[in-house]
Amino acid sequence: MSDHSVSAGEIKRRDFLYVATGAFAAVGGAIALWPFIQQMEPSSDVLAAGGPLAVDVSKIEPGQQILVMWRSKPIFVVNRTSPMLATLKEPALLAKLSDPNSKAKQQPAYAENWSRSLQPEYLVLVAICTHLGCIPGFKPNKGQVDASWQGGYLCPCHGSRYDLAGRVHMAQPAPLNLPVPPYHFTDAKTLVIGENPKGSAYSLSEVETL
Ligand code: FES
Repeated sequence: MSDHSVSAGEIKRRDFLYVATGAFAAVGGAIALWPFIQQMEPSSDVLAAGGPLAVDVSKIEPGQQILVMWRSKPIFVVNRTSPMLATLKEPALLAKLSDPNSKAKQQPAYAENWSRSLQPEYLVLVAICTHLGCIPGFKPNKGQVDASWQGGYLCPCHGSRYDLAGRVHMAQPAPLNLPVPPYHFTDAKTLVIGENPKGSAYSLSEVETL
């Protein structure tokens, strides 16, 4: 097992930009570098409360990912660039995916679309591999894993591959796409994880892998 092996309960410091545990996750300009900047331990009362978590997405640089904690679960938030989004429609990628149209119940109806998101530029995923629960590694650049790599996630435990929408490749140990948590935006920069848009009812308890 390589030193990249990590379970959801053993998140290594380098995997964080910021771990938000309070009511508001402010990602400061001083912490713009991937992979690790700061970690905060959640208080037991915050974990127990399990309330919605607000994240200021305006501080996430284009192409950057942050990781926050919501209800003890690691959540990826990515600011996807136009080239990153363009990969999601490439026929060569779609041909590799197990569930390119997100038909398995791994997301709310409002994210059952080509970008698996409410706003294409912002990807919000539960950062738990659908195989055995490791945290996939963010590999956003083309060619970063091998010559045909189009950007996405590579699970360090058994090598499952996902694209930049969390869609799993075919013939991987992981059987399903990464889940999307309930979320909505209250304004242009405020993402709230744990609450659906008005009129939507969805809970992570509905997905097949959590
Ligand atoms: S836990 Fe991700 S491939 Fe096994």
